[in-house]
Formats: sequence, structure tokens, C-alpha cells
Amino acid sequence: MKIGNQYYQSIWADENDPAVIRVINQQKLPFFFEIKELRSVDDVYNAIDDMTIRGAPLIGAAGAFGIYLATLEINSQTNIREHLSNAARYLVSCRPTAVNLSWAVSRVIDKLGNDQSPESLSKKALDAAVEICEIEKENCRQIGKHGLKLIEAISRKKKGAPVNILTHCNAGWLACIDYGTATAPVYLAHEKGVPLHVWVDETRPRNQGAKLTAYELGQNGVPYTLIPDNTGGHLMQQNKVDIVIVGSDRTTKTGDVANKIGTYLKALAAFDNKIPFYCALPSSSIDFRISDGVKEIVIEERNPEEVTSVSGFDSGEIRSVRICPEGTNAANFGFDITPARLITGLITEKGICRATEKDIKEMFS
Ligand code: MRU
Repeated sequence: MKIGNQYYQSIWADENDPAVIRVINQQKLPFFFEIKELRSVDDVYNAIDDMTIRGAPLIGAAGAFGIYLATLEINSQTNIREHLSNAARYLVSCRPTAVNLSWAVSRVIDKLGNDQSPESLSKKALDAAVEICEIEKENCRQIGKHGLKLIEAISRKKKGAPVNILTHCNAGWLACIDYGTATAPVYLAHEKGVPLHVWVDETRPRNQGAKLTAYELGQNGVPYTLIPDNTGGHLMQQNKVDIVIVGSDRTTKTGDVANKIGTYLKALAAFDNKIPFYCALPSSSIDFRISDGVKEIVIEERNPEEVTSVSGFDSGEIRSVRICPEGTNAANFGFDITPARLITGLITEKGICRATEKDIKEMFS
């Protein structure tokens, strides 16, 4: 995606310095555009942990580059197998809900096999991490192509009046490597000249919608309106939402979807108002080992300070202010589960399918 006239991915390997991975610092957006260097496994862990980078496909790609950086730390004293499996365990432990992280890290580890040469391990790990980026980019592009058909069909029904799409959190190109998942159909439809408008949930407590989705859509000229998280139900009752498209951090083989906290409530409101509710996801977000999202997906609990405070821009600086009485107890669950029965369909790189075990199995056999 372009920022100004310059093409960016949300993560890339520095062409001039093989010891550096570069990322867009999402903590600073939309107020400052800053690129951060990651030079070690610890740097990758910390960048995921402090949300410099976030979003399921992106943290997967970052984990993959983390294994590459781990190979650069090998010296003559290193027990290579132990070193790499420690790095893998450490990286995967960083955020528990998105399955992409463990998927990508395991994929790189598998590609390394029993190789014992540090140079060859580094080359294989870098190739595997870059390949993951390319796979995720192409997955998102395909998701865009399939999701575009849904938006075009609604546009035809509305005789060209703007299609109103509601989205939650940031499942955009920043969260992926390029295009995004939930946003990919939006970008393609906008590029094709389909009139549309996006309702952007602010997505408390970290406001990824307000900060990141609004930034992305604005940079790409897509009309949008920012709304508080509790506005969606009202808009749906007023016929102001034609379709909901969200991302996924982990989808079970039966079609339950873990996504940013608050997604479930949007799905309930959409179900009650008979509004199509789609989850856009690459197959790297499907956990084929599990069936019951509520029982089996670990929901990340984050620092309560994200709830008791809010961060924003004031007098040239990013500042955080407390919004409740000092000492307030707060709970901060990062994700929730939308049961398959509330989901109209899954938009994947292979096509659109119903959120059922049978359809998912058929699509990914
Ligand atoms: O906590 P975050 O910002 O990493 O949560 C991100 C989301 O919930 C996204 O919707 C999800 O990762 C899908 S990404 C394409």
C-alpha cells in the first residue's frame, strides 16, 4: 500500500543490511510515521509485546523473521537445535490468541531441518520468512478478489448508492503485510470505482480502528466515518449498514472466529438485523486442531492500564491520560469468540465458504 507516493509493506528485510528487519511503528500512527529496526530475537519479541507491530498475519511474519535473526546469533559455542527451539518457544509465547504466530514460526523451523551450517540456516530462514510475507500478501489479494464480489452484488442491489461496510479493529494492510484481510475487498472495490463508505469502530481500549484503520482508509482515499464501539447496533437498526466485514486471529475447523474484543457483539447485532456478517481470513489463521472456539481458544489478557487510560495526540506529543478514578479495577480481554452460527461466511484466499466444518474442510482439503 502507498503512503504518500511511496509503496510500503508493514514489515520487510533491509536490502542493505542483512542483520536488520524493518517495521512500521504502529504505536506511533497516525500521529508520527516511524520505521523501527529489529536486530535480535528480543527486539522482535518486544515489538510484538508492546504493539509496535500487531495483527495476526503481521505477528506471524515477524515471528518468522525472529527465527532468521536467531540464526544470526549462532556462534561456535551454540547448541543450534536448543537455541532455535528456545527462540521459537519464546516468540510464540508472546501473544497467545493469533494462531499465525505459531504457524509461521513452526513453518520456518521445519524448513531448517537438521542443517548445522549457520550460513545456510540463515539463508533458509530468511528465504522462508520472505516466502511467508509473499504468501500472506497473495492470500490477502485473493481475499480481496473474492470479497469484492460481495460488495459489487450489494452495490448492484442498491443501484450504485454507496455500500456501507462496518469493520472492527484493524484488519488492514498494517495488520497484514499488504492489502489487509477485511479491508482488501474494500480497497479493490474502491479502486474499481464502486461507491462505498466504511463505518470504523474505534475499538477500545487501544483504538486500533480510530488510529490505524482510519489512517489507512484516509491514506487511500476511502470514505469512512469513525464511530464509538457501541454505535453499530443503532446503525444496523437504521439500515445504515449493508455488510459487516472483520478479520480473525484464530478460526476453528468448525468456523468459530476469535477476533478483537467486541466483534461478538457486532455479530449478534448483525444477526438480529439480518445483516450479512463476514470474517475475512487467510488459511494461516485457521487452527485445524480445534473445534470449539469458546472452550479451546486462549484469550489474551492485557494490561488493565489500557482500559483505565487513553492515549492520544496533544501539543505535538503522544500522551496518555487516566479516564477513571485512581485505583480503578479494570479487565482487559483482548479478543472474543464469534460462534460460527452468527457468521454468514468466511472470505478466504480460496473463496467464500460457510462457517461450517464441512465447508471449511471442502475448501481446504
Ligand atoms: O490486538 P491486535 O491489534 O493484534 O488485534 C488485531 C485484530 O483483532 C485483527 O482484527 C486481527 O488480527 C485480524 S488481522 C488481519
